[in-house]
Amino acid sequence: MPEPLERAIFGMYATHAVHLADRHGVFAFLIAHGPSRIGKIAAATGTDEETLGRLLVALCAFGVVAEGGSGEYRVPARSVPYLDRTDSRYTGAFVSHLIGSTADRMSYLDAYLVHGKARVDVDLPDPFETIYTDEESVTAFLAAMWQLSFDVSGELADLAELGAVEHLVDVGGANGPFSVAALLRTPTLRATVFDLPQVGPHLHRTRDAYEFGDRLAFVSGDFFYDELPEGDCVAFGYVLSDWDDDTCLDLLRKAHTACRPGGRVLVMDRLFDGHHHPLATAVMNLSMHVETRGRHRTAEEYVGLLRAAGFVDCEVRRSTREKHLVLGRSASQGG
Ligand SMILES: C[S@@+](CC[C@H](N)C(=O)[O-])C[C@H]1O[C@@H](n2cnc3c(N)ncnc32)[C@H](O)[C@@H]1O
Repeated sequence: MPEPLERAIFGMYATHAVHLADRHGVFAFLIAHGPSRIGKIAAATGTDEETLGRLLVALCAFGVVAEGGSGEYRVPARSVPYLDRTDSRYTGAFVSHLIGSTADRMSYLDAYLVHGKARVDVDLPDPFETIYTDEESVTAFLAAMWQLSFDVSGELADLAELGAVEHLVDVGGANGPFSVAALLRTPTLRATVFDLPQVGPHLHRTRDAYEFGDRLAFVSGDFFYDELPEGDCVAFGYVLSDWDDDTCLDLLRKAHTACRPGGRVLVMDRLFDGHHHPLATAVMNLSMHVETRGRHRTAEEYVGLLRAAGFVDCEVRRSTREKHLVLGRSASQGG
């Protein structure tokens, strides 16, 4: 069997194995204690030795852990930041979201293939009513968002050159990954996260943890019904990929109204390079289909939306990671 097909077929096992090894502290143990035998790992993590052995053999076959023939398993150095719970690149909460939420929604794809999404979803509530069913699901979703967004946000804030910006409005800013990175880098900046009411307590916890005081505010609202707070920089991080083009255009027009003349809008999202790349964008584009009403786009598509909403001088600035910046400016008064 060709290797790409084999990896695709058995990918389900890989996601579950990564999730379980993370959840039961196997990666944490290996990262803390270095190369170790199965018996030692099982004793330390309180897991069944035979099951753990099989899990590690599978993870080894996928290249997630390594074993050099001595019977000792280790996490390869390049994977450590993503599996280390103390690292800002740690990806465990996102993998939990895939297993705990996305996997259930995948069955919808079958119905979409037969009837189309519009027909199947006709009676479904807004995607965020489904994602935020209770406090536990809000917490899990926001933890996944923080992990996806915080680490890259420092780079995005640098790319956005916020030095002269006074007030950042972070639309759908969640528990604040981008706002925090921007505030940490720009001492004169103040930020407002505009998001659904369920998110408020989480953003307030972030504000308190970073001791931002009134530099970081929360405005509760629904961007379909409420106007956005006014600012000289309006940010959308992983927001437009949740919605179709018409909805994005409405949101960007609202942003244009909220954005002071001479200000700017930041669209920060995954980008397609051509039709199939990169892999994470291609796969998450399926996720957007089953979990939201959106899709991933090329940089040119975002520039087209920004121009249609009235923004000018649009630019694409790429990070070294998977989330990039498409920037538009609001024309200066009289300009
Ligand atoms: C995919 S998350 C992105 C979070 C964050 N900006 C980031 O980059 O990680 C989408 C955000 O949009 C918010 N959101 C969804 N529908 C909304 C609405 N109708 N009004 C305001 N915010 C909304 C969600 O609560 C969530 O925080």
